[in-house]
Amino acid sequence: MLSLSRIILTQFKNYEHASFDFGERVTGICGLNGRGKTNLLDAIYYCCFTRSYFAKNDGLNVLFGHDGFRLEAFFRKNTDLMKLVCINRVGGKKELSLNDVAYEKFSAHIGQFPAVMVAPDDIELIAGGSEERRRFMDTVLSQMDAEYLQKLIEYNKVLQQRNSLLKRFAEQGKTDWPLLEVLDEQLIQPGSFIHQRRKAFTESLIPLVEQFYGQIAGKQETISLQYSSQLNETGFYELLNHVRQKDFLLQRSNAGIHKDDIGVLLGDQVFRSIASQGQRKSLLFALKLAEFELLKQNKGYAPLLLLDDVFEKLDDNRMHQLLYWVCRENSGQVFITDTHRDRLEEAFEKLGTAYQVIEL
Ligand SMILES: Nc1ncnc2c1ncn2[C@@H]1O[C@H](COP(=O)(O)OP(=O)(O)OP(=O)(O)O)[C@@H](O)[C@H]1O
Ligand SMILES: [Mg+2]
Repeated sequence: MLSLSRIILTQFKNYEHASFDFGERVTGICGLNGRGKTNLLDAIYYCCFTRSYFAKNDGLNVLFGHDGFRLEAFFRKNTDLMKLVCINRVGGKKELSLNDVAYEKFSAHIGQFPAVMVAPDDIELIAGGSEERRRFMDTVLSQMDAEYLQKLIEYNKVLQQRNSLLKRFAEQGKTDWPLLEVLDEQLIQPGSFIHQRRKAFTESLIPLVEQFYGQIAGKQETISLQYSSQLNETGFYELLNHVRQKDFLLQRSNAGIHKDDIGVLLGDQVFRSIASQGQRKSLLFALKLAEFELLKQNKGYAPLLLLDDVFEKLDDNRMHQLLYWVCRENSGQVFITDTHRDRLEEAFEKLGTAYQVIEL
C-alpha cells in the first residue's frame, strides 16, 4: 500500500508556502479557476518523477520572482515512512534526497513512488502523433523496470549521434560508412531490448484497455489496438541496412523503435480520425487505467492516481462508471480536482465512498 500523507510546497508555482495533509483514500481538491489545483497535483507528480508533468523547463515551476523551490513529501509504503525532499535553485543544481540520503542519479528514483496522472491535455495521447504513444509506453515501462530507462537513455544518445553524423555526411559531401556501422552496432542492442519490452508490455496492456473501454463506454462500441513497430517483422540489423541510402538522403535515421506506435481502431475505422470527444476521453481513461493496473501488478500495490478536471466531456453514465472504478474498485490513493465542490461531493456520496475535500 502506497500513500502520500503530507506535502509541503515552498515557492512552487503559485504557492509561496503551503502544507497539505491527505487521507489514505480519496481526496477532492476544489477551488475556482487559477487557485492552484493543477499545480498541487503537479507538485505530487514532481515528487514521484522528479519533474513536472506540464512544465518542460524547471524554471517555470519556481514562484515568479523567486530563485528556487523546495518540495517535501512524506510517503507511506506498506509499513515504511519515507521522506522525499527536492530542492531546485535557479541556475544551480537540483538536489533530491530520500530519507536524507541524496540521490546521485535522479533516474534511480523513478518507480519508487509510482503514479498515474490524467490531465485534460492528455487527450493528445489519442489525437496527437505517434511520439505521444511512445512516451506513454516509456513512462510506464520506466517505472516498472529501471533497466528499460537506462536502455532508452542509451538509445536516444546514440540516435542523436547517428543523426548528427548523417548531417555531417551531407555537409561534407562524403560518407564514412564504417563509422556509421559502429553507431549502428551501438543502436541495435538497446533498440532490440526496448522492442522486446514494448512488445511484451503491449501484449498485457491491450486486452486491459479494450476491457476498460467496454466498461466505460458500454458494450456496443468495440475498439481494437495494435502495437506497430518496424522491428515486429524484421531484425534491427537488416532494417538498418535496408534504409541506409534513405537515411543518407534524408539526413536522419528512418528505422528503429523511435518509429513505433500503438494503432487504435473503432469498429474498423481509425479511432483518432472518427471518434467523438467523449469517445476519445473514454479511450484516454481506458489507457490510463490499464497503465495503472499493470503498474499495480508489477509493484504489488496501487500507484497514486492523480485526476485533473475529469468531469469535462464525459456523459453521466460514463462518468459514473469511471468514478465507480476509481473510488470503489480501486483501493489506492486518489486525488481528484474540480471547480465545483457540490458536484464532486455529490458524486462521492452517490458512490458511498469515504472522502476528504481540500478547498483552495
Ligand atoms: N511559476 C509560477 N509562479 C507563480 N504563479 C504561477 C506559476 N506557474 C503558474 N502560476 C499560476 O498559478 C495559478 C494556478 O494555476 P493552476 O493551473 O494550478 O490552477 P487551477 O486551480 O488548476 O485552475 P483551473 O480550474 O483553471 O484548472 C495560475 O494563475 C498560474 O498563472
Ligand atoms: Mg487546473
